[in-house]
Amino acid sequence: MKITILSIFPEMFAGFLDTSIIKKARLKGLVEYELVDIRSFSKDKHNRVDDYSFGGGAGMVFLYQPVVDALAFVKTPKSHVIMMAPAGYLFKQKRARELKEYEHLILICGHYEGFDERILQHVDEVLCIGDYVLTGGELAAMVVADAVTRLVDGVIAEDSPQEESFENGLLEYPQYTRPDTIDGFTVPEVLLSGHHEKIAQWRRKESLRKTWKYRPELLEKIDLDKKDRQYLEEIVLEEDKV
Ligand code: ADE
Repeated sequence: MKITILSIFPEMFAGFLDTSIIKKARLKGLVEYELVDIRSFSKDKHNRVDDYSFGGGAGMVFLYQPVVDALAFVKTPKSHVIMMAPAGYLFKQKRARELKEYEHLILICGHYEGFDERILQHVDEVLCIGDYVLTGGELAAMVVADAVTRLVDGVIAEDSPQEESFENGLLEYPQYTRPDTIDGFTVPEVLLSGHHEKIAQWRRKESLRKTWKYRPELLEKIDLDKKDRQYLEEIVLEEDKV
């Protein structure tokens, strides 16, 4: 897979591309990253990439020409083009899983107060990473590139993604490592028991507990069986006591 990023601040990606899993994916040749500076496509004598918004209003808007020319430079018939902006579909794990199937993703980092709407004629989808406004699309592009990269075959251990938060519609259960007691805090007994079925049941219940506590709306979107409902009843009583 190849991920191309169009930005006016390509230098922001240096640390991202040169650290941890992303660096490994790059060095193993599993994902190729390409950074393209939108400013180098400006036809303005001052290299400008933005201008005032028709109709007035604060802030500068990305010009059509440099963005569309940069896009034409990198786009192939296999490319899937994404604009990073607050006014878009909310990016979720499910979309990350779908995006990893594309051979070539192009992420355009919107900046300043927005972009000329006509740029969207050349874009397949607009993605927002959360209900807040960033100074630009760069961090959002890193989020999408990161979430997709780690799902590409060979990037991380085979069986780990299925166990994670959001993969089964729930938040992930708590985890512990050695030592089994520290500062008087102990690891739940069952995890030391070696009893796989009991451990799986405990993890399911604790997954439900985290989801109930932090993201209750997720519980409405998944199929809960009888046992899950019983766990939830117990959780409500247990948490009431705390
Ligand atoms: N650009 C600025 N804020 C953003 C957000 N929340 N998601 C995607 N791109 C953005």
